[in-house]
Amino acid sequence: MRRARLARGKKGKPGSAKRRLVSTGSGSSSSKHHSMVLALYALNHPEVLRKCEGVLELGAGAGVTGLLVAKACGRPADVVLTDGEHHVLELTRRNIEANFKEDGRPSCEYLRWGENVAEFRDKVGTFDLIMATDVLYCPEALEPFFTTARQLMSSKPSAQLLVSHTNRSYVPHYKVRKAGSKCGFKCTDIPLQSIPGCAEMSRATAADPRHPLLQRMQVFRFTLKSSIRADPSS
Ligand SMILES: C[S@@+](CC[C@H](N)C(=O)[O-])C[C@H]1O[C@@H](n2cnc3c(N)ncnc32)[C@H](O)[C@@H]1O
Repeated sequence: MRRARLARGKKGKPGSAKRRLVSTGSGSSSSKHHSMVLALYALNHPEVLRKCEGVLELGAGAGVTGLLVAKACGRPADVVLTDGEHHVLELTRRNIEANFKEDGRPSCEYLRWGENVAEFRDKVGTFDLIMATDVLYCPEALEPFFTTARQLMSSKPSAQLLVSHTNRSYVPHYKVRKAGSKCGFKCTDIPLQSIPGCAEMSRATAADPRHPLLQRMQVFRFTLKSSIRADPSS
């Protein structure tokens, strides 16, 4: 797979790919690994992408995960990147334009969790795969995040939500599982070691103090519990 190129920032200079990076949104190089983790998972499960009619990223930031998956799935126009900050979406849009031709590129849309989700669903559609990387760092965000995902997935019984999360003291892994369960999701843990490429990345960065988050990262796969799937009002 060709590596997604990120748009050049105001201070960037043409030349190396490194210089073309604006930022991954959080300014942390661990964030790039976060994005890689979910993308690697998706790439290693081609059956997931093959069956997908639509892929959505929540809290896309610069859009690294969505861009990588859009490159890999072969149908970039079926990928929608969202964020709840207009200024962030500006960066997302520039990165899309820098990496895809106009006649087949992912789109990006404003979506703030818990706000006007039904309207968003009516306009943009429903999705088989929803992804989110490094977005759950505020405990208050958990409930709107999961209710938004539920609303976007409820009419597709086989839809799944993939979340890569860093264990943090204020949002530890168990709270993510618990919040998902409270909102009607069944959770499966996907250890990094089980994702080809991630174990190596984790080992390679273990001794590197610039990558402390990778060691505390975990992927969760959420699917809707059958009681929620059967309830059309959910
Ligand atoms: C740490 S950044 C991660 C960005 C990207 N997923 C990545 O891994 O590089 C978190 C992103 O989530 C978005 N976000 C945070 N809270 C949100 C909310 N309530 N609704 C929508 N987006 C939100 C932020 O605007 C930001 O772009």
